[in-house]
Amino acid sequence: RYTPTPEDKFSFGLWTVGWQGRDPFGDATRRALDPAESVQRLAELGAYAVTFHDDDLIPFGSSDAERESHIKRFRQALDTTGLVVEMATTNLFTHPVFKDGGFTANDRDIRRYALRKTIRNIDLAAELGAKVYVAWGGREGAESGAAKDVRLALDRMKEAFDLLGDYVTEKGYDLKFAIEPKPNEPRGDILLPTVGHALAFIERLDRPELFGVNPEVGHEQMAGLNFPHAIAQALWSGKLFHIDLNGQNGIKYDQDLRFGAGDLRAAFWLVDLLETAGWDGARHFDFKPPRTEDFHGVWASAAGCMRNYLILKERAAAFRADPQVQEALRAARLDELALPTAADGLAGLLGDAGAYEEFDVEAAAARGMAFEHLDQLAMDHLLGAR
Ligand code: GCO
Ligand code: MN
Ligand code: MN
Ligand code: MN
Repeated sequence: RYTPTPEDKFSFGLWTVGWQGRDPFGDATRRALDPAESVQRLAELGAYAVTFHDDDLIPFGSSDAERESHIKRFRQALDTTGLVVEMATTNLFTHPVFKDGGFTANDRDIRRYALRKTIRNIDLAAELGAKVYVAWGGREGAESGAAKDVRLALDRMKEAFDLLGDYVTEKGYDLKFAIEPKPNEPRGDILLPTVGHALAFIERLDRPELFGVNPEVGHEQMAGLNFPHAIAQALWSGKLFHIDLNGQNGIKYDQDLRFGAGDLRAAFWLVDLLETAGWDGARHFDFKPPRTEDFHGVWASAAGCMRNYLILKERAAAFRADPQVQEALRAARLDELALPTAADGLAGLLGDAGAYEEFDVEAAAARGMAFEHLDQLAMDHLLGAR
Protein backbone atom coordinates (compact mmCIF):
# COMPACT_ATOMS: atom_id res chain seq x y z
CA ARG A 1 0.00 0.00 0.00
CA TYR A 2 1.28 3.45 -0.99
CA THR A 3 4.39 1.83 -2.47
CA PRO A 4 5.40 3.74 -5.59
CA THR A 5 6.21 1.91 -8.81
CA PRO A 6 7.37 3.27 -12.18
CA GLU A 7 3.75 3.02 -13.44
CA ASP A 8 2.92 5.89 -11.07
CA LYS A 9 5.25 8.06 -13.20
CA PHE A 10 7.00 9.85 -10.35
CA SER A 11 9.87 12.03 -11.42
CA PHE A 12 12.46 14.10 -9.54
CA GLY A 13 14.82 16.89 -10.50
CA LEU A 14 18.47 16.09 -9.78
CA TRP A 15 18.62 19.50 -8.10
CA THR A 16 15.92 18.57 -5.56
CA VAL A 17 17.50 15.72 -3.59
CA GLY A 18 20.85 17.22 -4.63
CA TRP A 19 20.14 20.57 -2.96
CA GLN A 20 22.95 21.23 -0.51
CA GLY A 21 20.97 23.60 1.68
CA ARG A 22 22.66 26.86 0.73
CA ASP A 23 20.30 29.78 1.40
CA PRO A 24 20.72 33.57 1.53
CA PHE A 25 21.73 33.34 5.21
CA GLY A 26 23.66 30.11 5.46
CA ASP A 27 26.17 27.81 3.86
CA ALA A 28 25.62 24.30 2.57
CA THR A 29 24.63 21.74 5.21
CA ARG A 30 25.06 18.68 2.97
CA ARG A 31 27.72 17.40 0.59
CA ALA A 32 27.12 17.36 -3.15
CA LEU A 33 25.42 14.24 -4.49
CA ASP A 34 26.76 12.42 -7.52
CA PRO A 35 23.93 12.36 -10.12
CA ALA A 36 24.54 8.63 -10.60
CA GLU A 37 23.94 8.09 -6.87
CA SER A 38 20.71 10.11 -7.00
CA VAL A 39 19.49 8.06 -9.95
CA GLN A 40 20.27 4.86 -8.05
CA ARG A 41 18.51 5.96 -4.85
CA LEU A 42 15.46 7.36 -6.63
CA ALA A 43 15.09 4.13 -8.59
CA GLU A 44 15.20 2.15 -5.33
CA LEU A 45 12.45 4.39 -3.93
CA GLY A 46 10.19 3.62 -6.91
CA ALA A 47 10.62 6.66 -9.15
CA TYR A 48 10.26 6.44 -12.91
CA ALA A 49 12.23 9.41 -14.17
CA VAL A 50 14.71 12.15 -13.41
CA THR A 51 15.10 15.65 -14.80
CA PHE A 52 18.04 18.02 -14.79
CA HIS A 53 19.46 21.46 -15.50
CA ASP A 54 22.54 21.36 -17.71
CA ASP A 55 24.69 22.45 -14.75
CA ASP A 56 23.28 19.76 -12.40
CA LEU A 57 24.81 17.12 -14.64
CA ILE A 58 27.77 18.93 -16.11
CA PRO A 59 29.33 21.46 -13.75
CA PHE A 60 29.50 24.94 -15.28
CA GLY A 61 32.80 25.45 -17.08
CA SER A 62 33.55 21.75 -17.72
CA SER A 63 35.73 20.95 -20.73
CA ASP A 64 34.25 18.96 -23.61
CA ALA A 65 36.02 15.82 -22.39
CA GLU A 66 34.71 16.28 -18.82
CA ARG A 67 31.26 16.91 -20.23
CA GLU A 68 31.31 13.64 -22.15
CA SER A 69 32.42 11.66 -19.12
CA HIS A 70 29.65 13.14 -16.92
CA ILE A 71 27.07 12.28 -19.55
CA LYS A 72 28.47 8.77 -19.90
CA ARG A 73 28.26 8.09 -16.15
CA PHE A 74 24.71 9.41 -16.07
CA ARG A 75 23.66 7.27 -19.04
CA GLN A 76 25.11 4.20 -17.34
CA ALA A 77 23.09 4.93 -14.20
CA LEU A 78 19.94 5.32 -16.32
CA ASP A 79 20.63 2.08 -18.16
CA THR A 80 21.25 0.02 -15.02
CA THR A 81 18.20 1.37 -13.16
CA GLY A 82 15.76 1.75 -16.06
CA LEU A 83 15.00 5.36 -15.08
CA VAL A 84 14.25 7.69 -17.99
CA VAL A 85 14.78 11.41 -18.54
CA GLU A 86 11.37 12.97 -19.17
CA MET A 87 12.33 16.64 -18.99
CA ALA A 88 15.40 18.85 -19.00
CA THR A 89 15.99 22.55 -18.47
CA THR A 90 18.69 25.23 -18.47
CA ASN A 91 20.35 26.95 -15.56
CA LEU A 92 20.15 30.63 -16.52
CA PHE A 93 20.30 31.89 -12.95
CA THR A 94 23.28 30.69 -10.88
CA HIS A 95 26.31 32.15 -12.64
CA PRO A 96 26.80 35.90 -12.04
CA VAL A 97 26.67 36.51 -15.79
CA PHE A 98 22.89 35.99 -15.52
CA LYS A 99 22.40 38.52 -12.72
CA ASP A 100 20.15 40.62 -14.96
CA GLY A 101 18.57 37.65 -16.71
CA GLY A 102 19.22 35.38 -19.65
CA PHE A 103 16.72 35.89 -22.49
CA THR A 104 15.81 39.39 -21.27
CA ALA A 105 19.12 40.66 -19.90
CA ASN A 106 19.71 44.25 -20.97
CA ASP A 107 23.08 43.14 -22.38
CA ARG A 108 22.69 41.69 -25.87
CA ASP A 109 25.81 39.51 -25.69
CA ILE A 110 24.46 37.84 -22.54
CA ARG A 111 21.15 37.15 -24.27
CA ARG A 112 22.99 35.49 -27.16
CA TYR A 113 25.06 33.42 -24.73
CA ALA A 114 21.91 32.35 -22.84
CA LEU A 115 20.35 31.13 -26.07
CA ARG A 116 23.45 29.18 -27.07
CA LYS A 117 23.68 27.61 -23.59
CA THR A 118 20.03 26.59 -23.87
CA ILE A 119 20.40 25.19 -27.39
CA ARG A 120 23.40 23.13 -26.33
CA ASN A 121 21.37 21.49 -23.58
CA ILE A 122 18.36 21.02 -25.87
CA ASP A 123 20.58 18.80 -28.02
CA LEU A 124 21.45 16.74 -24.93
CA ALA A 125 17.81 16.62 -23.80
CA ALA A 126 16.75 15.27 -27.18
CA GLU A 127 19.59 12.74 -27.17
CA LEU A 128 18.53 11.47 -23.74
CA GLY A 129 14.91 11.13 -24.87
CA ALA A 130 13.31 14.03 -22.96
CA LYS A 131 9.94 15.10 -24.38
CA VAL A 132 9.60 18.37 -22.46
CA TYR A 133 11.99 21.28 -22.12
CA VAL A 134 11.24 23.58 -19.18
CA ALA A 135 12.05 27.28 -19.15
CA TRP A 136 12.01 28.94 -15.75
CA GLY A 137 13.10 32.57 -16.05
CA GLY A 138 14.02 33.17 -12.43
CA ARG A 139 16.37 36.05 -13.26
CA GLU A 140 14.13 37.59 -15.93
CA GLY A 141 12.85 40.55 -13.95
CA ALA A 142 13.82 43.60 -11.94
CA GLU A 143 14.05 45.20 -8.52
CA SER A 144 13.37 48.75 -9.67
CA GLY A 145 11.17 50.53 -12.19
CA ALA A 146 13.45 52.07 -14.80
CA ALA A 147 15.82 49.08 -14.80
CA LYS A 148 13.63 47.04 -17.10
CA ASP A 149 11.44 48.20 -19.97
CA VAL A 150 8.96 45.37 -19.60
CA ARG A 151 7.46 45.72 -23.08
CA LEU A 152 10.91 45.50 -24.66
CA ALA A 153 11.86 42.64 -22.35
CA LEU A 154 8.76 40.75 -23.51
CA ASP A 155 9.84 41.39 -27.12
CA ARG A 156 13.19 39.79 -26.29
CA MET A 157 11.49 36.91 -24.44
CA LYS A 158 9.30 36.26 -27.48
CA GLU A 159 12.33 36.47 -29.76
CA ALA A 160 14.15 33.87 -27.65
CA PHE A 161 11.26 31.41 -27.61
CA ASP A 162 10.60 31.91 -31.33
CA LEU A 163 14.25 31.07 -32.05
CA LEU A 164 14.05 27.99 -29.82
CA GLY A 165 10.86 26.92 -31.58
CA ASP A 166 12.63 27.30 -34.95
CA TYR A 167 15.56 25.30 -33.63
CA VAL A 168 13.64 22.21 -32.49
CA THR A 169 11.54 22.35 -35.66
CA GLU A 170 14.61 22.48 -37.92
CA LYS A 171 16.20 19.65 -35.97
CA GLY A 172 13.01 17.60 -36.06
CA TYR A 173 13.13 17.05 -32.28
CA ASP A 174 10.06 15.62 -30.57
CA LEU A 175 10.33 18.22 -27.81
CA LYS A 176 7.87 20.77 -26.48
CA PHE A 177 8.55 23.74 -24.21
CA ALA A 178 6.92 24.34 -20.84
CA ILE A 179 7.25 27.84 -19.39
CA GLU A 180 7.37 27.93 -15.57
CA PRO A 181 5.82 31.02 -13.94
CA LYS A 182 6.92 32.46 -10.61
CA PRO A 183 6.00 35.85 -9.15
CA ASN A 184 9.31 36.73 -7.44
CA GLU A 185 12.51 35.25 -5.96
CA PRO A 186 15.30 35.55 -6.86
CA ARG A 187 14.25 38.76 -8.71
CA GLY A 188 12.06 41.26 -6.89
CA ASP A 189 9.51 40.86 -9.66
CA ILE A 190 9.76 38.16 -12.32
CA LEU A 191 8.30 38.39 -15.83
CA LEU A 192 5.44 35.96 -16.58
CA PRO A 193 4.61 35.83 -12.85
CA THR A 194 1.60 33.48 -12.97
CA VAL A 195 0.09 30.74 -15.12
CA GLY A 196 -2.37 33.25 -16.53
CA HIS A 197 0.39 35.61 -17.68
CA ALA A 198 2.26 32.72 -19.31
CA LEU A 199 -0.83 31.43 -21.13
CA ALA A 200 -1.48 34.87 -22.60
CA PHE A 201 2.19 35.27 -23.62
CA ILE A 202 2.27 31.91 -25.40
CA GLU A 203 -0.47 33.01 -27.80
CA ARG A 204 1.87 35.78 -29.06
CA LEU A 205 4.58 33.33 -30.10
CA ASP A 206 5.20 32.26 -33.71
CA ARG A 207 4.63 28.59 -32.92
CA PRO A 208 2.25 28.57 -29.93
CA GLU A 209 1.57 24.86 -30.42
CA LEU A 210 5.11 24.09 -29.22
CA PHE A 211 4.64 25.96 -25.94
CA GLY A 212 2.73 25.19 -22.77
CA VAL A 213 3.19 25.77 -19.05
CA ASN A 214 4.98 24.05 -16.17
CA PRO A 215 3.08 25.36 -13.14
CA GLU A 216 4.61 24.85 -9.69
CA VAL A 217 2.30 24.47 -6.67
CA GLY A 218 4.15 26.93 -4.44
CA HIS A 219 4.65 29.56 -7.10
CA GLU A 220 0.95 30.25 -7.68
CA GLN A 221 0.42 30.09 -3.91
CA MET A 222 3.16 32.70 -3.38
CA ALA A 223 0.87 34.98 -5.39
CA GLY A 224 -2.11 33.99 -3.24
CA LEU A 225 -3.72 32.09 -6.11
CA ASN A 226 -5.63 28.82 -6.23
CA PHE A 227 -3.31 26.22 -7.75
CA PRO A 228 -5.95 23.66 -8.79
CA HIS A 229 -7.80 26.47 -10.58
CA ALA A 230 -4.62 27.38 -12.48
CA ILE A 231 -4.12 23.74 -13.45
CA ALA A 232 -7.75 23.46 -14.54
CA GLN A 233 -7.36 26.47 -16.82
CA ALA A 234 -4.08 25.13 -18.23
CA LEU A 235 -5.79 21.79 -18.95
CA TRP A 236 -8.81 23.56 -20.47
CA SER A 237 -6.41 25.47 -22.74
CA GLY A 238 -4.58 22.30 -23.77
CA LYS A 239 -1.44 23.83 -22.28
CA LEU A 240 -0.52 21.69 -19.30
CA PHE A 241 2.76 20.31 -20.68
CA HIS A 242 4.42 19.56 -17.33
CA ILE A 243 3.92 20.12 -13.60
CA ASP A 244 6.13 20.85 -10.56
CA LEU A 245 4.64 19.36 -7.39
CA ASN A 246 5.69 20.65 -3.97
CA GLY A 247 4.30 22.33 -0.86
CA GLN A 248 3.95 25.93 0.33
CA ASN A 249 2.40 27.70 3.32
CA GLY A 250 0.75 30.77 1.88
CA ILE A 251 2.26 34.04 0.72
CA LYS A 252 5.91 34.03 1.74
CA TYR A 253 9.31 33.01 0.34
CA ASP A 254 9.42 29.99 -1.98
CA GLN A 255 9.38 27.08 0.46
CA ASP A 256 9.65 24.14 -1.98
CA LEU A 257 8.41 21.78 0.76
CA ARG A 258 7.79 18.14 -0.07
CA PHE A 259 4.49 17.46 -1.83
CA GLY A 260 1.59 17.29 0.65
CA ALA A 261 3.22 19.61 3.16
CA GLY A 262 1.85 23.15 3.23
CA ASP A 263 -1.66 23.57 1.84
CA LEU A 264 -2.96 20.00 2.16
CA ARG A 265 -6.47 20.77 0.95
CA ALA A 266 -5.12 22.34 -2.25
CA ALA A 267 -2.98 19.19 -2.69
CA PHE A 268 -6.08 17.01 -2.32
CA TRP A 269 -8.01 18.95 -4.96
CA LEU A 270 -4.97 18.98 -7.22
CA VAL A 271 -4.59 15.20 -7.14
CA ASP A 272 -8.35 14.82 -7.61
CA LEU A 273 -8.11 17.07 -10.69
CA LEU A 274 -5.06 15.42 -12.25
CA GLU A 275 -6.47 11.93 -11.74
CA THR A 276 -10.00 12.66 -12.92
CA ALA A 277 -8.65 14.60 -15.93
CA GLY A 278 -6.51 11.60 -16.86
CA TRP A 279 -3.23 13.54 -16.75
CA ASP A 280 -0.73 11.13 -18.29
CA GLY A 281 2.44 13.17 -17.89
CA ALA A 282 4.99 12.72 -15.15
CA ARG A 283 4.18 13.56 -11.54
CA HIS A 284 7.28 15.67 -11.19
CA PHE A 285 8.50 16.80 -7.79
CA ASP A 286 10.40 20.08 -7.53
CA PHE A 287 11.02 20.39 -3.80
CA LYS A 288 13.92 21.02 -1.48
CA PRO A 289 14.55 18.74 1.50
CA PRO A 290 14.97 21.34 4.29
CA ARG A 291 18.57 22.16 5.18
CA THR A 292 17.98 20.75 8.69
CA GLU A 293 18.12 17.26 7.16
CA ASP A 294 20.97 14.81 6.66
CA PHE A 295 20.73 12.25 3.85
CA HIS A 296 18.27 10.09 5.78
CA GLY A 297 16.02 13.12 5.83
CA VAL A 298 16.62 13.77 2.13
CA TRP A 299 15.45 10.30 1.08
CA ALA A 300 12.62 10.35 3.64
CA SER A 301 11.50 13.65 2.09
CA ALA A 302 11.62 12.25 -1.47
CA ALA A 303 9.73 9.11 -0.40
CA GLY A 304 7.20 11.34 1.40
CA CYS A 305 6.41 13.23 -1.83
CA MET A 306 5.39 9.99 -3.55
CA ARG A 307 3.63 8.51 -0.53
CA ASN A 308 1.55 11.65 -0.05
CA TYR A 309 0.57 11.66 -3.72
CA LEU A 310 -0.56 8.03 -3.50
CA ILE A 311 -2.49 8.61 -0.27
CA LEU A 312 -4.24 11.63 -1.76
CA LYS A 313 -4.98 9.68 -4.93
CA GLU A 314 -6.66 6.99 -2.85
CA ARG A 315 -8.61 9.56 -0.80
CA ALA A 316 -9.74 11.46 -3.89
CA ALA A 317 -10.89 8.25 -5.59
CA ALA A 318 -12.84 7.27 -2.45
CA PHE A 319 -14.45 10.72 -2.42
CA ARG A 320 -15.57 10.38 -6.05
CA ALA A 321 -16.84 6.82 -5.53
CA ASP A 322 -18.91 7.58 -2.40
CA PRO A 323 -22.68 7.46 -3.22
CA GLN A 324 -23.31 10.21 -0.67
CA VAL A 325 -20.81 12.42 -2.45
CA GLN A 326 -22.49 11.74 -5.78
CA GLU A 327 -25.80 12.73 -4.25
CA ALA A 328 -24.23 15.85 -2.74
CA LEU A 329 -22.75 16.77 -6.14
CA ARG A 330 -26.23 16.55 -7.66
CA ALA A 331 -27.65 18.62 -4.78
CA ALA A 332 -24.99 21.22 -5.57
CA ARG A 333 -26.06 21.07 -9.26
CA LEU A 334 -22.67 20.17 -10.72
CA ASP A 335 -24.55 18.20 -13.36
CA GLU A 336 -26.37 21.37 -14.35
CA LEU A 337 -23.10 23.26 -14.84
CA ALA A 338 -22.31 20.70 -17.53
CA LEU A 339 -25.39 21.71 -19.53
CA PRO A 340 -25.02 24.41 -22.20
CA THR A 341 -26.75 27.62 -21.14
CA ALA A 342 -28.53 28.15 -24.44
CA ALA A 343 -28.59 24.98 -26.54
CA ASP A 344 -31.69 26.60 -28.05
CA GLY A 345 -29.46 29.33 -29.47
CA LEU A 346 -29.70 33.10 -29.18
CA ALA A 347 -33.19 33.18 -30.76
CA GLY A 348 -34.41 30.57 -28.29
CA LEU A 349 -32.96 32.51 -25.39
CA LEU A 350 -34.50 35.80 -26.52
CA GLY A 351 -37.89 34.17 -27.12
CA ASP A 352 -37.99 32.37 -23.78
CA ALA A 353 -40.24 34.31 -21.40
CA GLY A 354 -39.26 31.89 -18.62
CA ALA A 355 -35.67 33.12 -18.93
CA TYR A 356 -36.58 36.69 -18.05
CA GLU A 357 -40.13 38.06 -18.11
CA GLU A 358 -41.54 35.19 -16.05
CA PHE A 359 -38.35 34.21 -14.23
CA ASP A 360 -38.86 34.06 -10.46
CA VAL A 361 -35.70 35.87 -9.37
CA GLU A 362 -36.56 35.74 -5.67
CA ALA A 363 -37.18 31.99 -5.67
CA ALA A 364 -33.89 31.37 -7.52
CA ALA A 365 -32.03 33.65 -5.12
CA ALA A 366 -33.44 31.74 -2.17
CA ARG A 367 -32.06 28.34 -3.29
CA GLY A 368 -29.16 27.13 -1.19
CA MET A 369 -26.16 25.73 -3.04
CA ALA A 370 -25.45 22.89 -0.58
CA PHE A 371 -21.70 23.39 -0.92
CA GLU A 372 -20.89 23.13 2.78
CA HIS A 373 -22.25 19.59 3.08
CA LEU A 374 -20.33 18.61 -0.05
CA ASP A 375 -17.10 20.14 1.25
CA GLN A 376 -17.45 18.43 4.61
CA LEU A 377 -17.73 15.09 2.84
CA ALA A 378 -14.47 15.95 1.08
CA MET A 379 -12.89 16.88 4.40
CA ASP A 380 -14.03 13.59 5.93
CA HIS A 381 -12.46 11.65 3.07
CA LEU A 382 -9.26 13.68 3.20
CA LEU A 383 -8.92 13.14 6.94
CA GLY A 384 -9.72 9.44 6.67
CA ALA A 385 -12.91 9.88 8.70
CA ARG A 386 -15.08 8.10 6.12
C1 GCO B 1 11.88 27.46 -8.08
C2 GCO B 1 11.87 26.85 -9.42
C3 GCO B 1 13.03 26.14 -9.88
C4 GCO B 1 12.78 25.65 -11.29
C5 GCO B 1 13.86 24.84 -11.78
C6 GCO B 1 13.72 24.63 -13.27
O1 GCO B 1 11.59 26.77 -7.10
O2 GCO B 1 12.04 28.62 -8.03
O3 GCO B 1 10.91 25.86 -9.34
O4 GCO B 1 13.24 25.08 -9.02
O5 GCO B 1 11.66 24.83 -11.40
O6 GCO B 1 15.04 25.44 -11.45
O7 GCO B 1 14.47 25.57 -13.92
MN1 MN C 1 9.69 26.80 -6.11
MN1 MN D 1 12.80 25.51 -6.52
MN1 MN E 1 9.95 24.44 -10.35
